Amino acid sequence: MISVRIAATAVLMSVSISASAADQTLDYAYFKERVEPIFLKKRPDHARCYACHSESNNAFHLEKLTPGSSFWSEEQSRRNFELAARVAIPGNLEASMLLKHPLAPEAGGDAYHSGGRQFANKNDPDWKILMQWVGGAKLATAAK
Ligand code: HEC
Repeated sequence: MISVRIAATAVLMSVSISASAADQTLDYAYFKERVEPIFLKKRPDHARCYACHSESNNAFHLEKLTPGSSFWSEEQSRRNFELAARVAIPGNLEASMLLKHPLAPEAGGDAYHSGGRQFANKNDPDWKILMQWVGGAKLATAAK
């Protein structure tokens, strides 16, 4: 009897978890418009994310720009989106390396990132954009 009830509860839980995960998806338009430019932006005292992460073979990898272009093609952006999704867990800010790794440890980030403390705290406007993307922001509603 008890085991039946546990099984029933487990089914209910898995249903509600998958339902809420479905609400939070990563939006490609938001990514291309708002997030990708951050990877190319030069921050004072820091190398660009792109400088290291297009060379590296870590979990977070960016496509190489075509020589002569200053932004990724549609196809490259699609690929970047898939690659960035490896380090962004929709709706789970704590588990998303994209948010934790480049953030200063005092502000809740990971203790070490070879690329440095790219974001001093969570008020950094670029960090907020990354956070909103992971949180499920869609381009149409992003202006709020
Ligand atoms: C100077 C080079 C450099 C720069 C600039 C840099 N990173 Fe990194 N990053 C690394 C290296 C090397 C690692 C893997 C080792 C580690 O954890 O530090 C890494 C790890 C990561 C990880 C963890 C996943 C993985 O691939 O291991 C994320 C996410 C990440 N970086 C995001 C960023 C973001 C976002 C930026 C720009 C805001 C950035 N990095 C800038 C070198 C860099």
